Amino acid sequence: MCGIIGIVGREEVAERLLDGLKRMEYRGYDSAGICTLHDGDLVRCRAEGKLSNLTRELATSPTPGEVGIAHTRWATHGAPTECNAHPHATDEVALVHNGIIENFRSLRDGLTKRGRTFESETDSEVVAHLISEQVEAGKSPEDAVKAVLPQLRGAFALAIAFRDHPDMLIGSRRGSPLVVGFGDGEIYLGSDALALAPLTQKIAYLDEGDWVVVTRDSATIYDKDNNRVEREISTSGASAAAIEKGNYRHFMQKEIFEQPTVVAQTLNSYVRPLEQQVALPQMDFDISAISRVTIVACGTSYYAGLVAKYWFEQFARLPVDIDVASEFRYREPVLEPGGLALFISQSGETADTLAALRHCKEEGQTIAVVVNVPTSTMAREADLLLPTHAGPEIGVASTKAFTCQLAVLAALAAHFAVKRGRLDREQEAEIVSHLLEAPACLNAALNHDAEIAAMAHLIAPARDVLYLGRGADYPLALEGALKLKEISYIHAEGYAAGEMKHGPIALIDEAVPVVVLAPSGPLFEKTVSNMQEVRARGGKIVLISDREGLEEAGEGCLATIEMPRVHPLIAPLVYAVPVQLLAYHTACVKGTDVDQPRNLAKSVTVE
Ligand code: F6R
Repeated sequence: MCGIIGIVGREEVAERLLDGLKRMEYRGYDSAGICTLHDGDLVRCRAEGKLSNLTRELATSPTPGEVGIAHTRWATHGAPTECNAHPHATDEVALVHNGIIENFRSLRDGLTKRGRTFESETDSEVVAHLISEQVEAGKSPEDAVKAVLPQLRGAFALAIAFRDHPDMLIGSRRGSPLVVGFGDGEIYLGSDALALAPLTQKIAYLDEGDWVVVTRDSATIYDKDNNRVEREISTSGASAAAIEKGNYRHFMQKEIFEQPTVVAQTLNSYVRPLEQQVALPQMDFDISAISRVTIVACGTSYYAGLVAKYWFEQFARLPVDIDVASEFRYREPVLEPGGLALFISQSGETADTLAALRHCKEEGQTIAVVVNVPTSTMAREADLLLPTHAGPEIGVASTKAFTCQLAVLAALAAHFAVKRGRLDREQEAEIVSHLLEAPACLNAALNHDAEIAAMAHLIAPARDVLYLGRGADYPLALEGALKLKEISYIHAEGYAAGEMKHGPIALIDEAVPVVVLAPSGPLFEKTVSNMQEVRARGGKIVLISDREGLEEAGEGCLATIEMPRVHPLIAPLVYAVPVQLLAYHTACVKGTDVDQPRNLAKSVTVE
């Protein structure tokens, strides 16, 4: 979590650091801070809460200087207060940190015994003191960092400034991402290429364990064993414009409406429309030999994985194990030799998923990742990279990344089915034609925006909302509930429709809206029976179905939302739209912060 940026520049840096933080605010927004080197001093300005507070603070306490570091925080250790805000500093050293120093307590105890005092409750401040001790003992910045890094356990990206070395910064990464950007007579550090987009497109991605000494015209990189190494400089595709809201009120709204375009863009890489075939990237393993897939992810990406489980099993008869990454890693899962482990992630940096990926790698699994950031750590550690082309997703609640993940997973399910002899050419062509209908169907679903906005007034007063679905639409019920709770703060739960009668139906009364996802198809009748059980107990139903479904079961509902009639393979993509819109408009009615909901951050780089 958290975003960090550093500039060794030729001009004043405060404004540019602030702009970089703005681009990374999706990584955390509990507090923010800047430190520059000026006239032999470390000049700090920090503020609790959103970046706008820091901007205000800087107007009265400016931080002049051409070299500086900055941070936007998602709190882990210590409340989101000003004194816990980064940069953390001693007289000699200031630093910003993304990640967690797991052994900070013992390090802090040692430092306290040696007479050091702390101003914050954070794990990060101990690193500033450890480096400071080395500097005070006469070591150079490089030797001080070299001495301290081996003492740290956990995940971190650091950018460190030294009072007595005003023309340099040192960066370091282990577990959390850090990039080096090359400008014209300036060099930058940042959590991601997006943060540096207006400054430079020339980016080097540091490898695990690397650390780097940055001056105005050089970046000297060392690996984890302190050997000098070169890292390739590539041109980042990150565009500054990609993170503008345009005419939309919120990023989330913009991203919901981008879905037809980005799903089409993503499908373009996975199907050949003329040949009507699925086309996956080159693999250097035999996919038809895979006998079991283990899917691991978190949050919304996990729900995409749950949908894929239905597809892989149904279309390809391929057994799937699936788990949330935070549980998977520590339950000692039994992995078949030669198995395929599939990780799904928008950011490609989620610490739980990354830890699970590395565990599977150690266990000899082939690693496939469905990831939206092609330069992310997961992308770089995969044997098979299956990129989604959703473009930067800034709204904290994932929307377009989810439907793009589903598009890739649907193509992968079809590919498995072909390779396992479960789909002949004709059936494959039919599946491809359905996949290619997805963008138009997403457009049709978006046409119900105004109607869903009106409906949001019925949902906004509720204290609890339930979502029901069956089969591949059950994960959509989970996703609908997650979207609603994370941005509107209304308590919501998703249930497999048939599971209601085993307990949750006790929650039903007239105050609980129940959103039912029921496309026409083999599971429709059964879902509707469960819906009637809810209605019989006074539950207020919002039914999302196609015209046939609504004609059959729409009467007496609190509200209905009509979706186009679609093949079951693309139903989860299309039905994602109304649940996203319902959550979005409900949050707008409630006046919550849609793009930056409380307590959350976009990229969760701590376990
Ligand atoms: C919910 C949401 C989160 C993420 C989860 C995994 O809207 O965005 O639940 O899906 O934190 O993140 P990634 O996909 O980046 O691994």
